[in-house]
Amino acid sequence: MNPFRFGALALDESFTDREREREELVSDIRNGQDVVLYAPRRLGKSSLVWSAAQAAAADGVLVAQVDLMTTPSKERLAAALAATIFEQIASPLERVKEAALAPFRRLQVQPTVIVEEDGSYAFSFGFGERPSDIDATLERLFRLPGELAGARHRRAALVMDEFQQVVEIDPGLPNLMRAVFQQQPEVGHVYLGSRRHVMEGIFNDRNEPFWRSAKTVELGPIDPVAFAPFLVDRFDASGKAVSAAAVAAVLGRTSGHPYATQELCYFLWERTSPGAEASEALVSAALEDALRSEHAHFSLLWEDCTGNQKLVLEALAREAGHPFSAAYRRRLGLGPATNVQRALRTLEKREIVTGDRGAYRIAEPFLPEWLLSRR
Ligand SMILES: Nc1ncnc2c1ncn2[C@@H]1O[C@H](COP(=O)(O)OP(=O)(O)O)[C@@H](O)[C@H]1O
Ligand SMILES: [Mg+2]
Repeated sequence: MNPFRFGALALDESFTDREREREELVSDIRNGQDVVLYAPRRLGKSSLVWSAAQAAAADGVLVAQVDLMTTPSKERLAAALAATIFEQIASPLERVKEAALAPFRRLQVQPTVIVEEDGSYAFSFGFGERPSDIDATLERLFRLPGELAGARHRRAALVMDEFQQVVEIDPGLPNLMRAVFQQQPEVGHVYLGSRRHVMEGIFNDRNEPFWRSAKTVELGPIDPVAFAPFLVDRFDASGKAVSAAAVAAVLGRTSGHPYATQELCYFLWERTSPGAEASEALVSAALEDALRSEHAHFSLLWEDCTGNQKLVLEALAREAGHPFSAAYRRRLGLGPATNVQRALRTLEKREIVTGDRGAYRIAEPFLPEWLLSRR
C-alpha cells in the first residue's frame, strides 16, 4: 500500500518532525496557556494539534475539539461542542453515561441526543429557538469544560480548528466566547487558523475582544533535513527504495511543504515498480501526476481571479521578486504599479501569494508549475 497520505490528518507513522512545536504546545495546553496557531492551509496545523492533544490526554488533560469549518450556524456549533465535551470530558469523568449527560439536560435549549449504532452520541439543537436562548446555551457549553474538569481536579482544554470562521458564524460570537474564556485561566484554549488577515483582525486589533489574549505561534514548513529521512524510511518500509537525488529533487520542489511533499511522494511511489528504486528522473513524471490531481482546484482558483490578478500570477510563476519595481514590471509586461498593488493585495488575502518587504512569491505549492505548463 502507498505509504504517503495527503489530505487527511497525518497520524502516527504518517506524522514526522514537529517535535519542538509539539512539546511547546503540550506544555501550553497543560498550563492553561491560550495559543493561536497560525499557518496557511495544508501546512500541518490540525495534524500537529491532534498529536499534541493526544500527548496532553496521556498526561491526564481532557481535551475537547471542534472544527468551525463544519459548524456554519450557532446551533451547529452548540451541537459540535456538546458532542465533544460529552465524549472527551464528561464521559471520562463519569462511569455511567446517563450521569455524563446530566449537564446537557440543564441547558437553556435542550439538545436532542441520539445514540448511534456504534455507541457514540450525536447531539442536535433545533432551529427557531430564540437567539438569546441559543446564546445562553453556547455560553453554558463554553463554561462546561473548565467546570466539569475542575470539579474533579482535572485540567481541560478546548481546541478550535479553522477559527477564522468564527466571524462568519456570528459577528457577536467572539464577544460571547471571550467573556467566558477570560474567566477560565486554567483552561487552555487553542485557536487554529489559516487566513492571516482574518486571524490578525481577531487577535491583534485592540478593539476586538480577543486582543492580545493568546500567545501566537506561526507554523512553517518542515525542515527538509528532517523530512528527508522520513521519506527514505517510508519507501524502505513499503518494499521500494528512493535515491538521494530523488529525495533532494522532491524537497527542492516543495521546500518541505508537508502536503505538497506527501502528494509528490505519493505519485513518485506509484510510478516506482515494486522492489525498485525511485530515481530523480521519475520526479518530473510524478510532478505531472500531482498537477493533474490539483487541476480542478487550480482551475477554480484561476477562474476566481481578475485579469490583473492573472497577469501578476503568471509573472510571479516565471519570476518571484519585486513586482512593484519598474524593472520587474517592464521585464514581465505588467501595467501600472497601482494595478499590480491592488492585485497583490487580493492574492495575498486569498493566501495564494505571500509577500515579505516587497518581495513576493506564489505560496500555493505546484501552482507556478501548473501556470507555466499551460502556456
Ligand atoms: N507532521 C507531518 N508529517 C508529515 N506530513 C504531514 C505533517 N503534517 C501535515 N502533513 C501533510 O500535510 C497534509 C495537511 O495537513 P493538515 O494537518 O490537514 O494541515 P492544515 O490543518 O494546516 O490544513 C496532511 O494530509 C499530510 O499529508
Ligand atoms: Mg486543518
